Amino acid sequence: MKRLVVVSNRVADLTKTSQSGGLAVGLADSLKIRGGLWMGWDGRRLNSDEPPEPVVKTTGEITQATLPLTEDDYAEYYLGFSNSVLWPLFHYRLDLVEYRGTFMEGYRRVNAKFADALLPLLRPDDIIWVHDYHLIPLAAELRQRGCSQRMGFFLHIPFPPPEILTAVPRHRRLIEDLLQFDLIGLQTNTDLANLHRYIEEYLKEQVDKDGTVHHGQRKVFIDSFPIGIDVDAFAEMAEEPNDAVQIETMRRAILGRKQIIGVDRLDYTKGLPDRLKAFSRLLELYPEMRKSVTLMQIATPTREEVEAYTEIRSELEALSGQINGRFADFNWTPVHYIHGAVPREALAALFRASQVGFVTPLRDGMNLVAKEYVAAQDPNDPGVLVLSKFAGAAEDLHEALIVNPYDVDDMAKSLCRALTMPLEERKERQNALMKRIRQHDAQSWADSFIEALENCPSIAA
Ligand code: G6P
Repeated sequence: MKRLVVVSNRVADLTKTSQSGGLAVGLADSLKIRGGLWMGWDGRRLNSDEPPEPVVKTTGEITQATLPLTEDDYAEYYLGFSNSVLWPLFHYRLDLVEYRGTFMEGYRRVNAKFADALLPLLRPDDIIWVHDYHLIPLAAELRQRGCSQRMGFFLHIPFPPPEILTAVPRHRRLIEDLLQFDLIGLQTNTDLANLHRYIEEYLKEQVDKDGTVHHGQRKVFIDSFPIGIDVDAFAEMAEEPNDAVQIETMRRAILGRKQIIGVDRLDYTKGLPDRLKAFSRLLELYPEMRKSVTLMQIATPTREEVEAYTEIRSELEALSGQINGRFADFNWTPVHYIHGAVPREALAALFRASQVGFVTPLRDGMNLVAKEYVAAQDPNDPGVLVLSKFAGAAEDLHEALIVNPYDVDDMAKSLCRALTMPLEERKERQNALMKRIRQHDAQSWADSFIEALENCPSIAA
């Protein structure tokens, strides 16, 4: 069995598998079975131009190699090209793209650094799996250094239509670099169709029915591999008694109140302002809902040095203040807004204790919160998932109440329907959704990608 080498910007803490998301869970087992190497950024920023030496640590079958970035790398590669250009662009937010020439240079420089650091650690028959938008040129950098190993790439975020992608300077080179991988995995069929269209219309290359692209002398396979979660581990976590959550749930039950929950990184792609407005509209359209429902929104700060993220924070704080100012009573606060992180065990218990999971991104690669909400439910009295049609998860989770996250009235009506849905219908939907999240779980995602990568013809062949 070939050794698996994983490369991603952030490296998961493999000692805490049960607390991590889909990526770490799916990969950890494959790395343990095959033996493996995981390389990425160690989170440090140094003021030095010396080429970084990766720190290599081995635990059991898994070796992690991590390296620092310089302050310039951090500004140009991470905050700059990755999170001020590719992130907004790939989420269809051309209006938020902030491009500077130095960002592109920094992006290429860090990818070259990753390739230099990885090269001496590679074995000829490794298979290499690279993750996400930070590292699109990595295969091209490794190929330039003579690597002929099989290389796969998985994009965790959406792939935009070509009309949007072409707004990035030197988009052609970016996609030609992407085609240096042997296998390209995307989340959904929509993403797949967008990449096919770019290849056909802009590169004038043919995509076969089975997803094969003939790029020069090489064959590249492109397919969708929807990411999932470790369903049983999350369900077990949700069943664990959590004192703080239980006390609060009992208090709500005594008062006959329901809870709608939203949990997100505080990102402009998550549709948070319209989500709060939809809740406010619910209270307006259905006055009987007042005092009988609260919205708990947990928003975890992220990438705060990028301007667009500071703005969204102020907007949300103002909105939740306005809704509470307008509707609150001395014994009922409609919006419970938490700006911070909540431990995963508490989150799982909160999902189970909430009658509605409200997941309304404007655009999202997959959205694992939607799947976690489903996994956490009590099968005898499940809650209802209200899900944006623009989350990758909506391609599969048909039994959720699917909403348009730009249409505040549509969301308010669906919230009302979810809050008043009869038990039988809730159970039927829950059963169907559980089957779906089990079918595409974290392990099957990793296994199917690795199997497809192993079956790609090697470029040396
Ligand atoms: C998204 C991206 C990941 C990224 C994560 C957290 O899920 O797809 O690649 O690691 O956000 O963002 P951060 O910038 O903190 O790594």
